[in-house]
Amino acid sequence: MAARKAKPRKAATVDHTIPGTTVVMQRWKKASPAAPKARPFVFDQEQVEDIAVGLKLGLNIMLTGPTGCGKTSLPRAICSELGMPLVRFNCDGETRVSNLRGMNVPEAKDGVLTLTFSPGDLATCMQNGWPVLLDEIDAALPSVRFVLQPVLEEGNRTLRIPETGETIEAAPGFAVFATGNTIGYRAMTRARYSGTTPINAAFLDRFGMVVACDYPDKQGETERILANVPDLSPELADGIARVASEVRADDQFNSDFSTRRCVQWAQLVLEYGERSMLRAANLAVIRKFESSTDMKVVKEVIQRIFGYSDVEMR
Ligand SMILES: Nc1ncnc2c1ncn2[C@@H]1O[C@H](COP(=O)(O)OP(=O)(O)O)[C@@H](O)[C@H]1O
Ligand SMILES: [Mg+2]
Repeated sequence: MAARKAKPRKAATVDHTIPGTTVVMQRWKKASPAAPKARPFVFDQEQVEDIAVGLKLGLNIMLTGPTGCGKTSLPRAICSELGMPLVRFNCDGETRVSNLRGMNVPEAKDGVLTLTFSPGDLATCMQNGWPVLLDEIDAALPSVRFVLQPVLEEGNRTLRIPETGETIEAAPGFAVFATGNTIGYRAMTRARYSGTTPINAAFLDRFGMVVACDYPDKQGETERILANVPDLSPELADGIARVASEVRADDQFNSDFSTRRCVQWAQLVLEYGERSMLRAANLAVIRKFESSTDMKVVKEVIQRIFGYSDVEMR
C-alpha cells in the first residue's frame, strides 16, 4: 500500500493582527485562490486567541453554539483574513463516506470507459494541506463520523482510500474545524435541532478544543448588525439588538433568536424603509416561531421597544 506523497505547502507569510483583536496570526502574502471571500465579521478576542492556539498546536477545533451565532462564519472569517484556503463540507443525513473520501467515477479515455478515482473534499484538503470545515457534524450519520477518526489523530492524520489501496497522509497546513449545535454540554438542546444525532465521546475526545460560540450582548449585536447592514441607522440597529437581547433573556422564551435573524430583519428594514420595522419583523422574525408563547414574548418586546399600538400589533 503506497502512501500518497504529501505536498507540503510553503506559503510565504507575514504577521497580521486580526481586526478588533490583539491576536497576531500568519497571513499568506499571496492569498490562496481557495481562501474564502471577505465578508463583514466582528471578531471576538478570546475566540480568535483560542483558534490561533488551536491552529498553532495542530488541534482539531470544534465550534458549538445555537443556530445563527457565527459558528460557520468564524473559521471562514479567520481564513479569509489570513488568505488561507478553507473548504466547507456541509454534513447532513445523506452525507456518505464517499462524499468525504472520494469515489471511482467512469471516464472515457481514448474511447474506452475506465474508472478513475475522484477525491472527495476531505481527501483533497489532506493532499493539498488545506483546512477543512466539517459543518453541522452532528447532522452526519454516526457511521460517517467513525471514518473520520484516523483523520482526527492529531499528529498522525491518515485516510485510507479502499478504491486505490492508498493511504493519504495529511500535508502540512491541513487542519480540521467542525461545527454543531448539539455538541458536548449543548446536547441538552438536541430536541430543538431535528436531524442531529448524539456525538460519540471518543469522537469528541479527538477535538483538542471546543470553542463556545453564542449570541453577543446588546452592544455586540448592534456591531454585528451594522457590520452586515452598514447603511442602517445606528438607532434602528440598536433597537433590533435590544429586542434580541431582551427576548433571549426572557424566561418564557424557549427558542433561538439568532444573529442571522437580526441581520435579516435589518436588511428588510433598510429595503422597506424605517417606518416598516414591524412589516420587516413579521417577515424576518415573528412568523418563524412555532410556539405561540415564543411569538407572544417577541411581539410584546417589539411593541414596547418600538412603541406600536395594540391595533398595529394584531
Ligand atoms: N461575529 C459576527 N460578525 C458579523 N456577523 C455575524 C457574526 N456572527 C454571525 N454573524 C451573522 O450571522 C449570520 C449567521 O452566522 P453563521 O456563522 O452562519 O451561524 P451558525 O453557523 O452559528 O448557524 C452570518 O451570515 C452573519 O450575517
Ligand atoms: Mg453554520
